[in-house]
Amino acid sequence: RPRVLSGIQPTAGSFHLGNYLGAVRQWVALQETHDAFYMVVDLHAITVPQDPKELRASTRLAAAQLLAAGLDPDRCTLFVQSHVPEHAQLGWVMNCLTGFGEASRMTQFKDKSAKQGAEGTTVGLFTYPVLQVADILLYQADQVPVGEDQRQHIELTRDLAERFNGRFGRTFNLPAAYILKETAKIYDLQDPAVKMSKSASSPKGIISLLDEPKTTAKKIRSAVTDTGTEIRYDPEGKPGVSNLLTIHATLTGTPVAELERRYEGQGYGALKTELAEVVTDWVTPFRERTQEYLGDPETLDSLLAKGAEKARTVAAETLATAYDKVGLLPAK
Ligand code: TYM
Repeated sequence: RPRVLSGIQPTAGSFHLGNYLGAVRQWVALQETHDAFYMVVDLHAITVPQDPKELRASTRLAAAQLLAAGLDPDRCTLFVQSHVPEHAQLGWVMNCLTGFGEASRMTQFKDKSAKQGAEGTTVGLFTYPVLQVADILLYQADQVPVGEDQRQHIELTRDLAERFNGRFGRTFNLPAAYILKETAKIYDLQDPAVKMSKSASSPKGIISLLDEPKTTAKKIRSAVTDTGTEIRYDPEGKPGVSNLLTIHATLTGTPVAELERRYEGQGYGALKTELAEVVTDWVTPFRERTQEYLGDPETLDSLLAKGAEKARTVAAETLATAYDKVGLLPAK
């Protein structure tokens, strides 16, 4: 079985529809066909300031949401990044292979550091992508299911894997990004020119999966569209409407062309009303399942501990090989 690995940050509490459609939905599908490793990346979360109590709670909440979305611990390995110390360890080795200029070119770093300001930007935020490289290479992943915004980090992963292999001999598998074109980028409901984002979007622009259904419906009804009337998929000319069509099509499994036909002659209001129903029908059981998993933290924690144990056997082997190749003296 080919292997997949991916991760999601626990910050912001609730996942949003971009996280689900861009990534987690594919994770659920891939656990059936692939040897799948999925993690909550708490070490990545602390690259910007976090309240310790909230971080712990949101890490559990993230795991609960992944289970509620359909990850099955019998079909995939689900774990918390910091439970597997090899991530930080290989991260260090990879830091020592990464050019300063190379890391400076990461667009997510440029965006995030601009937001944090010079004093607020940590070295951790700078080397964030390199830790992600280690995440992926530790598991010798073949594919990495993510949204479009992660593409550059996967390219860096390939570059560093090649560099390591070239310098020390074949060690790492070169992974490929697994990005579905249709859902690679879900847009902000209030500003369909930018992606829906935990940190950048206004609350009205984000469909948070744990919102009250009423709130969700209201956000969809007030989504920004355009001054026209025709419901047509045209990302350039009608980004708002196209985004709504994408969400509808993916959640209901209806081809966009069929939706266009169905809404012919109808106004944007019809699309929004029906989409609000589609989304709330999906999130209502999702919220209930999340609460169920959260209601039993002991089971949740032991399930994560089992996941970490499975992950560690793979990660430890790769790390040992990498340390050896680099020439680190093994402890006797
Ligand atoms: P994160 O936590 O920001 O997002 C989790 C996943 O959701 C995707 N995503 C989107 N997809 C489509 N449209 C959107 N508007 C949208 N917003 C977010 C992201 O692309 C991502 O796949 N650096 C990663 C976490 C990470 C990781 C890894 C991923 C750490 N190590 C190793 C893969 C492999 C991140 O911050 O994702």
